[in-house]
Parts: sequence; C-alpha cells; structure tokens
Amino acid sequence: MEKTWHKIFENETEAKAQVPLRQTKLLAVAGKEICLAHTAAGFVAIQDACPHLGSSLSRGKINYLNEVVCPWHSYRYDLRSGKECDYRTRNAKTYPLEIREDGLYIGLLEKQE
Ligand code: FES
Repeated sequence: MEKTWHKIFENETEAKAQVPLRQTKLLAVAGKEICLAHTAAGFVAIQDACPHLGSSLSRGKINYLNEVVCPWHSYRYDLRSGKECDYRTRNAKTYPLEIREDGLYIGLLEKQE
C-alpha cells in the first residue's frame, strides 16, 4: 500500500525547538492524531490514542528506556516498535519519519487508521 508523506516541520531545528528532548507533542495529520516524541535516539511517531482505553499518549511522559508512559493507567509503549511492554493490551501503531532537505516528514498509509 502506498504511503503518503506529510511535512510536519520545516527542518529538524524547528522540530527540536518545538519538541525538546524527552517531550511529546500532539499532531493532527491527515485526520489522524499522532504523538510525536523526541527521544535520546531522535524523533519517533506513534498513535496518540492509547490502545488500552484511549487516553492521549502525548500527555504522557517518556522514561529512561525510551518508552512513553500513558497518563491514565501507566501502560508503557516502546517508542520504536509501539509494543506494550507488559503484554496487557494491543501494541500502538508507529509511523515512519524522514528528515529531508526541505523538512521533517511523516509517512502514513492511505488506509491506516
Ligand atoms: S488508557 Fe492508557 S493505560 Fe489505560
């Protein structure tokens, strides 16, 4: 299935200014709510709605293992894979990011929820 790439920042510097290290930001891209996280290993993107009961992961905290901790029941999701760390619920979807000369882009599948 084809991915569509959407520019979310003009460049990496702007992204870092708006989303400091270990912080998250809620983005709305093509009708989807995305949690953009700035980890020690760079930017990652994960679905914003927690797969447990739907709280907003962008209001959670990033821990030292590069997991986002849901603000509601503290389930933890690996920010690289979206895996829920204790097998209590579904994994979260993750989305590819690309830094290009003209900006930071996110790739969304046309039919991805
Ligand atoms: S809603 Fe996220 S852990 Fe329950």
